[in-house]
Amino acid sequence: MELAIQQKLLSQAKEAMKLAYVPYSQFRVGAAVLDQNGRIHLGCNIENAAYGPTNCAERTALFSAIAAGVAPRTFTAIAVVGDTIDPITPCGVCRQVMIELCNPDTLVMMGNLAGECNVMTVQELLPGAFTPTSLER
Ligand code: THU
Repeated sequence: MELAIQQKLLSQAKEAMKLAYVPYSQFRVGAAVLDQNGRIHLGCNIENAAYGPTNCAERTALFSAIAAGVAPRTFTAIAVVGDTIDPITPCGVCRQVMIELCNPDTLVMMGNLAGECNVMTVQELLPGAFTPTSLER
């Protein structure tokens, strides 16, 4: 994937941090997912007084893209940015959702406000995952 597109995706994820609804943690996270048609879909974390219903930025971006009509497993890359010391790393629930809605080789770009970035594939982030084929008997 072109460097310019990677940088754009990261900067859009950083921009999406501004949309976060984080009255409990004050920890803003932004995400941006790139579809096959070159469109970018944004996400932010959205918290809840009951804590459990909180939605991470990565899932908001993926769900938003699906709701906009993008077919599952057609995403090229997803970027996520948070104000962390080391580049942010997605939670286990988001990794499970990425396995379902992305491809094994979809790139996950993980950044912080210092401009550092780690890149891994969805499969690398969740080896041995329970997937749709795991339900086959
Ligand atoms: N969070 C994300 O949105 N993405 C991550 O990758 C890590 C955690 C959110 C959930 C919660 O709103 C806040 O960050 C603190 O955990």
